[in-house]
Amino acid sequence: PYPLYAELRRTPVARQEDGSYVVSTYREIADLLHDPHLSSDVRNLSHPMPGAADHGTPSFINVDPPEHDRLRRLAMRHFGPPHTPGLVTGLDPDLTRTVGSLIDDFAGKERIDVVDDFAYPFPVTVICHLLGVPREDEPRFRLWVNDIIDAIAYDPKTDPKEVLEKGVQARKDLRDYLGGLLEQRHGKPGDDLLTGMANDDGPDGRMTDEEIVATANLLLIAGHETTVNLITNGMLTLLRHPEVLQRLRDDPDLVVPLVEELLRYEPPVHIIPWRAAYSDITVADTVIPKGSQIMLMLASGSRDPGHFHEPDRFDPDRRDNEHLGFGSGIHLCFGGPLARRETQIALTELVRRLDHPRLVTDPPPYRRSPILRGPIHLPVEQGT
Ligand code: HEM
Repeated sequence: PYPLYAELRRTPVARQEDGSYVVSTYREIADLLHDPHLSSDVRNLSHPMPGAADHGTPSFINVDPPEHDRLRRLAMRHFGPPHTPGLVTGLDPDLTRTVGSLIDDFAGKERIDVVDDFAYPFPVTVICHLLGVPREDEPRFRLWVNDIIDAIAYDPKTDPKEVLEKGVQARKDLRDYLGGLLEQRHGKPGDDLLTGMANDDGPDGRMTDEEIVATANLLLIAGHETTVNLITNGMLTLLRHPEVLQRLRDDPDLVVPLVEELLRYEPPVHIIPWRAAYSDITVADTVIPKGSQIMLMLASGSRDPGHFHEPDRFDPDRRDNEHLGFGSGIHLCFGGPLARRETQIALTELVRRLDHPRLVTDPPPYRRSPILRGPIHLPVEQGT
């Protein structure tokens, strides 16, 4: 039940020793996510995360309007609007096929690892396909993405410096690779995202190659570990709630509210650490001075008893589930419809095809990151 968050919520807006602020209650987090006086521009941060530093063109998750809105709109034209499934609905057959072939590979095995055998390879395959990355390059992609994500989770107290160096190199390799791919797409027909962005002369003008590469990079990184963790947290939660697992097997439509409840109850993103105050901001009677760094504790907000009835209960029948799993406001997750559909299909098929799945260890080992939460391995036994 996350006792630390319950403790934090006693002081909704708390100043840290280093001068940054932690906000942990639902109302205050939601208000701040919609406040134009908050900046997402990493250049405004007093305590930037060393592993997340990228010296190339910043992508739209880390810039403010009007630049943010222009780039997000340009990318969105090829990805589908956020609340309508857009392009995503048409993907169902592809997603189902990819999920099916991954499960075929371990269907008969006594023991599988939901992370390595399934949740990790799945989203990279999907995003490579959407971007238009040739299939044979996918393994290189996975290595780069892993190194970049490890660097983002870098902890100076325990990790060797090489983790950061590998992250910087992987970002460079990935940018060079995408740049090369993009060169071949100019003036060519094609329905993939890179080709679409390269040849778009819409009302907002054309994106520069650097902007397209930064956007492609963002889609890869923002959409990877997060989706892995939602699928893995989902399987773990189902195995801990066998009655819900059985209900899902009997009624696959349950998966829609179930994934929303997962985004509230076991969200992959626990904290948005990169906001800064453009001016003095008053929240819950506390003045956050201009220039302060602000950490928004999304996962704590989604467990706030001031907003959710019995928040520590996993309840797929919950109504009006306005969780903070995808954030809110202008930076609301761009890939939400895709991540939802990927996870819905993944969980439905895992539950349908695994034979009496059982957890091997509970709790499983977790990724060591205060921001992203999910197991690094989830061993599961099956068969009677
Ligand atoms: C933004 C969560 C999957 C692309 C965000 C934000 C959150 C989030 C909390 C807000 C960040 C902020 O306000 O600073 C998640 C979770 C996912 C997921 C939990 C999976 C379960 C994806 C996928 C993609 C994606 C699959 C792309 C294919 C993005 C982008 C942004 C974003 C581009 C930045 C939006 C903007 O700045 O306007 N995501 N995400 N995400 N997400 Fe996701």
